[in-house]
Amino acid sequence: AIKILMDTDPGIDDAAALTMAINDPKIDLQLITTVAGNVTVDKTTKNALKIVRFFNQDIPVAAGAQLPLFKDFEDAARIHGESGMPGYDFPQDLPTPLHKTAVEALHDTIMASSDPITLVPTGSYTNIALLLSEYPEVKSHIDRIVAMGGALGMGNMTSAAEFNVFTDPDAAAIVYKSGVPIVMVGLDVTMKALLTNENIEKLQSLNEAGQMLHDIIINDGDHSDQGSAMHDVNTIFYLLHPEAFTTRDMWIDVVTDGPAIGETVGDIRGAYHNGKTNAKVSVDIDAQAFNDWFMAEVSAIKM
Ligand code: BDR
Ligand code: CA
Repeated sequence: AIKILMDTDPGIDDAAALTMAINDPKIDLQLITTVAGNVTVDKTTKNALKIVRFFNQDIPVAAGAQLPLFKDFEDAARIHGESGMPGYDFPQDLPTPLHKTAVEALHDTIMASSDPITLVPTGSYTNIALLLSEYPEVKSHIDRIVAMGGALGMGNMTSAAEFNVFTDPDAAAIVYKSGVPIVMVGLDVTMKALLTNENIEKLQSLNEAGQMLHDIIINDGDHSDQGSAMHDVNTIFYLLHPEAFTTRDMWIDVVTDGPAIGETVGDIRGAYHNGKTNAKVSVDIDAQAFNDWFMAEVSAIKM
């Protein structure tokens, strides 16, 4: 199984990504860390614990950064609701988070692992940036970072910036300059693989996990006639089915101020960085394959 650590801000699509990572036997999810993003970190932590409790798992959860490194914090409650994960009555008796910060928990888990681990950030990259800066020795123990965030040539916060990178552009800049191999699963790609309304409807009849996902996904404030974007779930899909993606190696720079703050600039022509690359960037996805996989994953969940 692929050993992963998820750093997340649930969040409707984060909750779906956690669902896949927890239940797919080909993934070994060892730790969940939380960050402020879609809602405040106390809420994203509670939401992560709700998912862990829902599936009766004992995966440790550690709370992370309350605020971006420098930028003011703006949540996305208008899309994910006040709680961040609305619409379903989760059990109230939640497990307790670890008595360590996200950064300490990430460090300890990475250093204790006998083989390199994959980091999967699906929120802003504040915790990951702090980890790489405070404990550079972890870098050689990280297999790669498979991150949802950024975009080539579009945005959902501003016309230039995607939410996770916009939330903490300084952190994103540190991560892209860190030298750790990164796969960028950006907004331009996740917007091509909407979960169709027909499939969202079908989720209800699959099992209790499908019912839960249905009930939260129908509250997605960004929902359209074409369906709902499952942004963060595409990281897990990439880990299991890279063949469904088209990728290109390039250099990604992150804009940290001015009108394009939070933009991920891909050196597509290789002209600025003389052909050097720091990321494998997904540029296309098989949307049908994503939908089929999503439904099969949920169908296979036994509770
Ligand atoms: C990203 O922003 C968040 O609202 C989603 O959970 C996803 O991680 C998409 O831009
Ligand atoms: Ca997210």
